[in-house]
Amino acid sequence: MTRIARLTLALMLTAAPATVHAQAVQPWANRALSPEARAELLVRAMTQDEKLLIVHGHHVPHPRTFDGVAVVAQAGYVPGIARLGIPALYESDASLGVANQVEQRKGDTATALPSGLATAASFDPQIAYAGGAMAGAEARAKTFNVLLAGGVNLTRDPLNGRNFEYLGEDPLLSGTIGGASIAGVQSNHIVSTIKHLALNAQETGRHILDARLGEAALRESDLLAFEIAIEKGHPGSVMCGYNQVNGDFDCESHFLLTDVLRRDWGYKGWVMSDWGAVHSTVKAALAGLDQQSGQELDSAIFFGAPLAAAIKDGRVPQARLDEMVRRTLTGMIANGLMDDPVPTSPAAIDYAAHAQIAQRAAEAGMVLLKNDRQMLPFAKTARTIVLIGGHADVGVMSGGGSSQVRSVGGVPVELMPPAGSEPAGFARITWHNSSPLAAIRAAAPGAKVTYVDGTDPQVAAAAARDADLAIVFAWQWQTEAADVETMALPQGQDALVSAVAAVNPRTLVVLETGGPVTMPWLGQVPAVLEAWYPGQRGGEAIARVLFGDVNPGGRLPITFPVSAAQTPRPTVVSMDLLHAADAKRAAGDKSAGGSGQVPPFAVDYVEGANAGYRWYAARGTKPLFPFGYGLGYTQFRYTDLKLDSGSALNVSFTVTNTGTRAGADVPQVYVEAGSATTPRALRLGGWSRLTLQPGEARRVSVDVEPRVIATYDAPGHRWSRAAGRYPVVVSHFAGDRALAGEANLTAQTLRP
Ligand code: BGC
Repeated sequence: MTRIARLTLALMLTAAPATVHAQAVQPWANRALSPEARAELLVRAMTQDEKLLIVHGHHVPHPRTFDGVAVVAQAGYVPGIARLGIPALYESDASLGVANQVEQRKGDTATALPSGLATAASFDPQIAYAGGAMAGAEARAKTFNVLLAGGVNLTRDPLNGRNFEYLGEDPLLSGTIGGASIAGVQSNHIVSTIKHLALNAQETGRHILDARLGEAALRESDLLAFEIAIEKGHPGSVMCGYNQVNGDFDCESHFLLTDVLRRDWGYKGWVMSDWGAVHSTVKAALAGLDQQSGQELDSAIFFGAPLAAAIKDGRVPQARLDEMVRRTLTGMIANGLMDDPVPTSPAAIDYAAHAQIAQRAAEAGMVLLKNDRQMLPFAKTARTIVLIGGHADVGVMSGGGSSQVRSVGGVPVELMPPAGSEPAGFARITWHNSSPLAAIRAAAPGAKVTYVDGTDPQVAAAAARDADLAIVFAWQWQTEAADVETMALPQGQDALVSAVAAVNPRTLVVLETGGPVTMPWLGQVPAVLEAWYPGQRGGEAIARVLFGDVNPGGRLPITFPVSAAQTPRPTVVSMDLLHAADAKRAAGDKSAGGSGQVPPFAVDYVEGANAGYRWYAARGTKPLFPFGYGLGYTQFRYTDLKLDSGSALNVSFTVTNTGTRAGADVPQVYVEAGSATTPRALRLGGWSRLTLQPGEARRVSVDVEPRVIATYDAPGHRWSRAAGRYPVVVSHFAGDRALAGEANLTAQTLRP
């Protein structure tokens, strides 16, 4: 008998009689069985009505009672089955903390993490895990057991309104950071979703657009991010997106939901739809959708009575319904929803400790873009500091949409999105209560620190003229349900920066943006810090970076082009149609449908797998700031490259802190790969984030992700790599060649 078998037997013999009895009555309660086996036992015990009950759920924008169960406002609710011990699903959005858009639950605040891009900029899976674990703990204490977190859609356009929620443009980075965050959420015995499978890469027309990308390119880019995140995070659930991919809606795509997810990746949890993303019963069920979410937002309860009828007349096999239920229960059981249910009423939360987690994430993700003449860190002896704009007297900006957290401490500024626009329905332009002014005053107690709102550039310039330091806080709001129209900062902020920089050469710009913006004033200012949407402790994090308590180690997870003209799609596809529909609606013409419902159109992702930095490299264009870029208050040198290659590739080298301060660095390994169908490009194959003391040197070893150095062979249904010599570079950022070599790799094929 093996040790495990002996242990199991001993546990069974010593188990309390009540447990043994419960298992006899409810055999699925037996934790020694696999989640799938337990789910199957449950399926066998369920009536047809019970099965049909859990394959569709509600959208709950206001508190409601369902069959005597009072449910607070939340993204979704799926009833449970008490007689079998199946818990209801209480679903909250949570890309950046437990969301509470437009304060649906009055007074219910939560800890707001920085934006997804900020977390990705840390290049640190531990930061992502800690943020996920924190959000999951708060969700659990608030009695939610499913978090609609885990957005890993790759950035293909800097204008996409949801870039801030996601994790950048590289599949390995997005997958690694996304997987860590999901694992963190689920460490609380609740489910995290991963979303939105797949190619939900722009918001304009998201409900109808057809995203076109060939299979090989899709597998090597967006799908690779999902694949890696699923392997690392094991999410209980996958959410299919709104858009179509190559002619099929995501939630009706047999290719995505069955061929790729089930057959190739062996995924065992359940597929839930996005809210309002279901268009059919039979096609969706046969494609592999397991649960219709937020049914009130669809045109019908497709997985209710119509599904029952389709099963009855054989259009959908009974076995398919059983499978839908089994997968849902598998995802739930595997994550402890039955064995360790969430509390039935809210529990206490250590918000002070959680604020520290949000602050660490913000600090780790800030990217210092420019620092001429070592303007930063500021000496704490500065006597006069003027802060300008961005509501920096009271807070830091938050992104909008379903991810929006009503943060602890409240919302000092809250504005409405344009009337009639889709975001107006469920997003607000808000600032978290984390005052850079207060934090900078605390950091530099000897200084006179003042604030002007920046609405008048001349007033701002006059205030800044004689200051030791001027800091302009510039912002750009991004939200779900709308793309940004231009990469330019809104509301005359470019002119504001120029006016201040013209009178004070010691002007720093702190950016609170969802993603890349244009910087026509870059040559006029000595220093720029990208703080992203820095979350609920963003003000404190900014102050600590500016004064050198934290040495910034964030690196761009997304290229900053000079302008949108450098990108594959300089304008958002069909933005003009959206505007026409909005105008009709504003004029009271109901036939225009909801905002965002423009006539069907396609987006051709001509860059293929080579999104982001690979696109700029292929075109030979030089972006404003490359992917992977970021400065700090010290410097790092890379030496002694060693390539250990054969069937696998290990890259090792020495990193030395050559400066005078301790700091974090993110050396990056890129390998050139490609095939006849995918143009060769340097692809991020791995990285390491490490902190070194001044003068300290450390050997770094990076195992290159094998799928990054392979190409997807669609007809052969496999990853394949030809034998040969593969250029390898160790870089400070994409395009840099600090160390270069060539790896000799054998041929390899891998299962998809
Ligand atoms: C978003 C999802 C979100 C869902 C529920 C949708 O509009 O696309 O990301 O989880 O709403 O709020």
